[in-house]
Amino acid sequence: MYILKQTLCVSVLLVGFLMGPVSAADKVAGEQKAANCVGCHGSKGKSSSGQWPNLAAQPAAYLINQLNAFKSGTRNNPVMQAMAASLSDDDIKNLAAYYASLSPVSAGGDVDPAKLGQNKATMCLGCHGSSAEGNGQFPRLAGQQPDYLLAQLNAFKTGERKSGPMQAFVGSISEADMKALAAYFGTIK
Ligand code: HEC
Ligand code: HEC
Repeated sequence: MYILKQTLCVSVLLVGFLMGPVSAADKVAGEQKAANCVGCHGSKGKSSSGQWPNLAAQPAAYLINQLNAFKSGTRNNPVMQAMAASLSDDDIKNLAAYYASLSPVSAGGDVDPAKLGQNKATMCLGCHGSSAEGNGQFPRLAGQQPDYLLAQLNAFKTGERKSGPMQAFVGSISEADMKALAAYFGTIK
């Protein structure tokens, strides 16, 4: 009986040990997988064009949500849907861990509209974090490409991109304010 218990204990420990590394996110594996992403999202998650979002320092939970949304088709973008189609759950977790671990970057942008946007930005920070650094399911906006931010705000407005909170929110924001907000967030880090 004693020996049986011992063996059971050891096997439970062994299984726990073997499974641990498999289910935990693996940044190194994520970095290797990210070789397929650098062409658009840039090295270290800083993209060089407003068509492609920066991914650096984006919260892992948000990245996982978006990659799954592309994969299932609930977020519609042909390029990213094709990219996400071949990613396994582990790939997604690892990529998210990798990008979340990178240092924040700043896209920069026009200073004048940014000043206007700064005054309006307070209403966004309750969800997106006090420095717009993102939090869990809420994406980082700080330093994001202004053209990308504006495109997403418009996509929420037309309903092309679905999100309860954002669709409700952008309904009351003018085109000029959206531009100013996008410019402001692009300039901070
Ligand atoms: C050929 C260009 C291209 C490649 C390669 C690419 N992406 Fe993208 N990615 C895009 C575009 C374009 C968007 C913006 C989609 C939109 O407008 O909704 C995007 C958006 C994203 C988003 C959403 C970001 C956000 O802030 O919501 C994530 C996450 C993402 N890509 C991850 C990846 C990963 C991980 C890879 C590599 C496995 C990858 N992408 C490869 C073009 C690319
Ligand atoms: C009630 C909470 C809430 C508020 C307030 C809010 N957001 Fe959001 N926002 C979200 C959520 C949740 C998402 C992620 C949606 C998803 O998962 O697709 C999001 C996503 C976004 C995105 C897409 C980012 C990306 O990387 O693709 C932009 C841009 C954005 N918000 C801008 C704003 C701006 C600008 C304001 C203020 C005017 C604001 N949000 C206020 C909850 C909020």
